[in-house]
Amino acid sequence: MNQDQLKQLVGRAALDYVRPGQVLGVGTGSTVDCFIDALAASGITVAGAVSSSERSTQRLVRHGIPVLDASEVTGLTVYIDGADEIDANGFMIKGGGAALTREKIVADLAERFVCIADESKLVPALGKFPLPVEIIPMAAAQLTRRFAALGGTATLRAGVVTDNGGHILDVTGLVITDPLAFETEVNQWPGVVTVGVFARHKAQVCLLGGAGGVKTLT
Ligand code: 5RP
Repeated sequence: MNQDQLKQLVGRAALDYVRPGQVLGVGTGSTVDCFIDALAASGITVAGAVSSSERSTQRLVRHGIPVLDASEVTGLTVYIDGADEIDANGFMIKGGGAALTREKIVADLAERFVCIADESKLVPALGKFPLPVEIIPMAAAQLTRRFAALGGTATLRAGVVTDNGGHILDVTGLVITDPLAFETEVNQWPGVVTVGVFARHKAQVCLLGGAGGVKTLT
């Protein structure tokens, strides 16, 4: 199976976590696109979805799935999203699609984060994938210096403005041995909107697609 087929496989597998009549949280990315398509084809009627991006909203609406604003719900049973990297504890790097801020907001509403990914995303330690950080543009130079002090090299993602009007720094050269501590520290830096380490909002379930089928990590 190629990578696209693995994404379709885990997209379908995530349907096991969806209940008819439910409002669910929906992430962003090519794997989530497969999940949205699988949901639409499944015949499961959900009450609606809280979406983490304009991209996913458009796809949901195209399929006739109602999209609710985050402020219309007090909580969600489940949030389904992809990841750029995930470790065995469910800690993730996210934000490759620049949707990390809304992804963390929707994840915060949910009781359970179900991560869907192909098995290449499972890593022993986070940091090989350039860490996305959404920032306020004015802080770019200072935040670049702060990451350099940690051994990282931050590069502004050219031409990208997020759904929230922010910019994205991609940081290479980091080895994130303590994701919880790292997220807490970077969150406090002025100008950081969202750091793409999801440790406080880690995945409780990870569905990993590989040659042997879907493996479930909990
Ligand atoms: C978007 C994300 C995505 O979940 C992540 O980039 C994975 O995307 P894909 O499923 O296309 O590999 O965090 O901000």
